[in-house]
Amino acid sequence: MKIAIGNDHAAVELKREIMEYIVSLGHKVENYGTDENASCDYPAFGEAVARAVADGRADCGILICGTGVGISIAANKVNGIRAAVCSDATTARLVKEHNDANILAFGARIVGSELAKDIVSAYLSAQFAGGRHAQRVAMLSEIEERERQNQKAKDRAY
Ligand code: RB5
Repeated sequence: MKIAIGNDHAAVELKREIMEYIVSLGHKVENYGTDENASCDYPAFGEAVARAVADGRADCGILICGTGVGISIAANKVNGIRAAVCSDATTARLVKEHNDANILAFGARIVGSELAKDIVSAYLSAQFAGGRHAQRVAMLSEIEERERQNQKAKDRAY
């Protein structure tokens, strides 16, 4: 798989370790994150990875900031993105099986590097289960569509 990875300053070291790990699993990885320790703004990296996934330039994404929360919120603003913050391997497996999460996020200040690798491994080796879960994931897309229609109506009224 081709995986887009992104991070802010809180996760430079962990991002490097995770990139090496992803390659060791036989995947390709593209780095959209910062490699500097200087303080920077996580929304830019969340958006960059989300756009790579939404545009089909990557099969899925991995985002890391201090908690995984800010950068995943940014990613979830992009249509078609389902970014999920995980702090354990079971949740990481289930967000793929049940939610078809196309971006995995975690916090460099929350999980250590061995746990982070377990989380990545669980996510990358899981498959979307489909069935009743597909119907629910479709409902998530319908919310996005309603948002687009609401925005269009607002634009027309303006
Ligand atoms: C940066 O200090 C920190 O706020 C950021 O990495 C992230 O945890 C935000 O959600």
